[in-house]
Amino acid sequence: MSTLDDKDFYESEDPIWNPAIHAIPVPGIRKMVNLAANMEDVIHLSIGQPNLPTPPHIIDAASRALYAGQTGYTMDAGLPELLEALAGYYGQRYQRPLSPENILVTTGATEALYLALTATSAPGRQFIVPDPAFMLYAPLIRMNGGVVRHVPLRPELGYQLDPQEVIDAMDVNTYAIVLNSPGNPTGTVYPRETVEAIVEEAAYRGIYVISDEVYDHLIYDGLSYPSVLSCCSDLDHVMVVSSFSKTYSMAGMRIGWLMASQGAIKKLRRYHMFTTTVANTPFQWAGVAALNGSSDFIDNMVAEYSKRRNRLIEWVDQAPYLTGYRPQGAFYLFPGLPEGVNAANVALRMLKEIGVCTIPGDTFGNAMPNALRISYSTSIAQLDEAFERMIPWLKKQDWE
Ligand SMILES: Cc1ncc(COP(=O)(O)O)c(C=O)c1O
Repeated sequence: MSTLDDKDFYESEDPIWNPAIHAIPVPGIRKMVNLAANMEDVIHLSIGQPNLPTPPHIIDAASRALYAGQTGYTMDAGLPELLEALAGYYGQRYQRPLSPENILVTTGATEALYLALTATSAPGRQFIVPDPAFMLYAPLIRMNGGVVRHVPLRPELGYQLDPQEVIDAMDVNTYAIVLNSPGNPTGTVYPRETVEAIVEEAAYRGIYVISDEVYDHLIYDGLSYPSVLSCCSDLDHVMVVSSFSKTYSMAGMRIGWLMASQGAIKKLRRYHMFTTTVANTPFQWAGVAALNGSSDFIDNMVAEYSKRRNRLIEWVDQAPYLTGYRPQGAFYLFPGLPEGVNAANVALRMLKEIGVCTIPGDTFGNAMPNALRISYSTSIAQLDEAFERMIPWLKKQDWE
C-alpha cells in the first residue's frame, strides 16, 4: 500500500505504537487540503461540511446553556432532554416508537461509528463495506483484526448497490454490513427495495446492518428517505448512526448519536464511558433547540443545495473526460475519468496548475482510482469559476 510509505505518519520504528495504528491510512483529503493551505486563489471543491451559517436559535441555545452553567458532564447516555427529543423526532419521522434507552449520544457520528465498528470487529470477522465508501469504515474494522469484504458500487448505475451482490457476499464469518445512504463520496441514495432486501436477509442470518445516515436530510427531487429505521421489523440487528453536523451546519459542535436495541445500547454505553465519557453538554442543549425548532433551515438548505447540484451536473456533462450521473443526496458528485487515468495525479495537477481542489477517488477505496470527489458545498459562483478553469485544462489533456 502506497500510504504506508508516508514519512510523516510512519516515520519511526518506535515500538511504542500498536500495529493497529498502521491500519489508519494517510487521508488523501489531508494531503490535498494541506497543500492548498499554502497556495493563493484556490477554489475548494473539497469541502465535507455545509457552508451555511448555523441557525441563530441553535447558537442562542448553546450560549444560554453556557451562561446557565450547563458546563458539567451529562448522564452517560446523553442529556435526558436530548434523548427524549431524538426519540420523539424519529418516532414521528418513521412511525417507529423509540425510547430514550434505544439511543446513545456521542461526539459526532464519528464516535458512534467508532464505537459500533470497534466494539464488533475482531480477528477473522468479516464486514461487508461498499467501495467506494467514506474512509473511516475500513480502517476501524481492520484496526481490530476484522476483514473488510468490499462490494463494488456501480458507476454506470449512479453508484447504486446491488442488494444481491451484498447477499451473495454474506457468509458464516459475516458479522455486519456497513451502509451509507446518501453516500459520501457518491451522493447516491439507495432505494427502499435495496435497503429492505439487505436488512431483511441480514436479520434472517443474524448479521448487523450498521447504517451511517448523516446526510438523511440532504435529499433532492422530493424523494422520501428510506432509512434503515423504516425498513427493519425490529432493532435487533441494526445500528443507525446520525448527527447534527450536516443537517444543521453544526459539524464543529460534535453531537451525534447511535440508535439500536436497548441491549446493544447498554453495551455501547459502557464502552462510550471509557472512550469519551459523555458528549459536549452545551451543544447537546443546542441539539434540543435544533430538533424542537422550525424546519425552515433544512427546507432552505435542501432548496439551495438542489440548485447547486443541478448546476454541477450541467458542468460535469460539459466537461471533457468526466462521466457524471444524477446524485440524489448529500453534496457530492463522484465523476469518473477515463479508465486507467490516475485521479490522484489529476487532482494534484489541477490544484497546482489551476488552483482547483478536489479529492481523488483512492481516498475512498480501491474501486475508483480514476474518479474525483467534487463537493458542491460551495456557492454557484465558485462552482462556475472552478469549471471555467477546469474545462480548458481538461481539453488540453490527451487521455484515451
Ligand atoms: C458519511 C459520513 N459519515 C460520518 C461523518 C462524520 O460526521 P460527524 O461530524 O457527525 O462526526 C461524515 C463527515 O464528513 C460523513 O461524510
